[in-house]
Amino acid sequence: MRRTTLYILAICATCATGGGCTGLQASMDPAGSPGRQIASLWWLYCGVGIGVYLITMFFILLAVRRKRRIEGPSDAPVVDTQPEPRRERRLTVVVSASLGLTTIILLVLMFAEFATTRAVASLSGDQQPLKVRIIARQWWWEVRYEERPTSEIVITANEIHIPVGRTIQFDLESPDVIHSFWVPKLAGKKDIIPGHGASLYLKADEPGTYFGQCAEFCGYQHAKMRFVVVAETQENFEKWRASQLAPAKSPATETQQRGQEVFLGSTCVMCHTISGTSARGTVGPNLSHVASRAKIAAGSLPNRPGHLAGWIMDPQKIKPGVRMPQHNLAPTDLRALLEYLQSLK
Ligand code: CUA
Repeated sequence: MRRTTLYILAICATCATGGGCTGLQASMDPAGSPGRQIASLWWLYCGVGIGVYLITMFFILLAVRRKRRIEGPSDAPVVDTQPEPRRERRLTVVVSASLGLTTIILLVLMFAEFATTRAVASLSGDQQPLKVRIIARQWWWEVRYEERPTSEIVITANEIHIPVGRTIQFDLESPDVIHSFWVPKLAGKKDIIPGHGASLYLKADEPGTYFGQCAEFCGYQHAKMRFVVVAETQENFEKWRASQLAPAKSPATETQQRGQEVFLGSTCVMCHTISGTSARGTVGPNLSHVASRAKIAAGSLPNRPGHLAGWIMDPQKIKPGVRMPQHNLAPTDLRALLEYLQSLK
């Protein structure tokens, strides 16, 4: 009993200090649908659970005290006596009331579940959602905006931009193993089984950056299969889309020119694409606008020159098992490559 109370207090303290219930990846601090409905259902279950626990504990303590009073200080067993009719009636009422209360609680929870399921499903009825195709790979996310003509397809990775207030339809697929798409502040999880497409609908209410995470163990670097959802106004979203549609920037300086030569002359081109160049690999993320993204390596590192350098030179050290090989570049070549990649806004 004392240990259980300590656990509950520890959980409450964590929540009160913002450790578990708030933040960029907290499902209990929703910022859109159906995350809001799911969080409400969670709080209802939590409240009912605490209520039932307290009531049960109260009656158990009452029973223990009563037994002690009847038995007295001695441990001698009480002789079973025939219950008197008044006590019998009272017990029947108490048991019936408990059964009635249990039934009511179960019905309330059942209807709350129905309501939540309806709310979750209601977004799929939206006739004009923004469709975003997500391809989950070991261990990063390819993001494709394909609803416009081929010339206007936007391809990016690990950073999903969406307009607020609009239903987003994520069409999810996986070419390798089972992954699970999860943005805790916006929606529940959706498993992605190879060969079986799945769709997830959500709508962000407030502009902001929300963390996402693969929620199904998918191999060595499952924990480092993260992404972000950037929810912004329609205007900012269109600006972002236009910037992503523009061809990759051409080298503006001699160093950037050298950097591009290093890139095109190395194994980088076998896995990555930079629009307007001969690099057309599709195994790894599209790098046409890599400098516009806040993070690299699927949310593992901030997109800064030092981190990028470490990632290029020895990705296996940061994400052991990742498909990207090590690169032994001369310091001047590495510096030029970094400058070129950082220019790809
Ligand atoms: Cu992908 Cu875990």
